Amino acid sequence: MPSASTSTAQLDLIRPQPYTDWSPEVDGATRADLRRQLEQGAVLYFPDLRFRFEPGEERFLDNRYSDGKSKNINLRATDTAVRGAQGSEQDLADLYRLVRRYADFSEKLVLSLFPEYGPYMTRAGTSLRPSEIAGRPVSWRKDDTRLHVDSFPSNPLLGQRLLRVFHNIDPAAPRVWRVGEPFADFAQRFVPKTHGMWPGQAWLMKQLRITKRKRSEYDHRMLQLHDLAKADLDYQANVPQQEFQFPPGSTWIVFSDQLLHAAMRGRSMMEQTIYLDPKAISDHTHSPEAVLSRMLGRPMLVS
Ligand code: SIN
Ligand code: FE
Repeated sequence: MPSASTSTAQLDLIRPQPYTDWSPEVDGATRADLRRQLEQGAVLYFPDLRFRFEPGEERFLDNRYSDGKSKNINLRATDTAVRGAQGSEQDLADLYRLVRRYADFSEKLVLSLFPEYGPYMTRAGTSLRPSEIAGRPVSWRKDDTRLHVDSFPSNPLLGQRLLRVFHNIDPAAPRVWRVGEPFADFAQRFVPKTHGMWPGQAWLMKQLRITKRKRSEYDHRMLQLHDLAKADLDYQANVPQQEFQFPPGSTWIVFSDQLLHAAMRGRSMMEQTIYLDPKAISDHTHSPEAVLSRMLGRPMLVS
């Protein structure tokens, strides 16, 4: 088994981009290249793409505006108020404006870089994450300092892709991530340990409100992959991986259902989730639904 230090040199998943504007003008050839890299599982990294506070908004770097129960302050796409926050009416209105502005900027960025995705995109949640990651007491399954691909127990995505735009809004601390081997390699290792659902399981989980809608086999397998990776400390230590420190004021875009990632340290981040219909993907070599379909010998997508 390769050691973490020898394998580190083999991975180079962070691809710096020069843009400083949330609606950059990018020529077609460059856009196609960026899309190819993103779909292959790389991190598109924008070291100088700043999201600026308006006067007074810096106060939201302090986690006293979290309600104490949720780790993040969240905005759902169709809501007009944030969840998981506490403060005066003015604070909550200002928080909404801040988080909403990040959602609008992120969406503009993705639409500028990947106009072909436009018809297939659905804006999902936006979050402000104002708490230090390191040292948080969480169960292993919720421990995002362990490498994983994103998959949600109660929110089956039925093959919709998870495209995420992150921004380190902390003025001083980097956000430190680890990223790991390509999804196909990860799948080779763990898919044989996953199992399908028993008859009626998806129906029952929906009846019992464990899931918001019927879970598909795709979601069921992805969730097991998430858990198997996090539970395997040997894998965590020895899988080919790379650490990267996203500095204050930087932005990055990934398919977080595809890229193995772990957030190790950092204080304050903003995040936008976009669901993407897999019909929008041009390169199906690396995408999770395609890899699982090939490995299991049947289509994973529910139409
Ligand atoms: C995650 O998606 O695992 C966490 C990312 C972060 O908080 O930096
Ligand atoms: Fe994650």
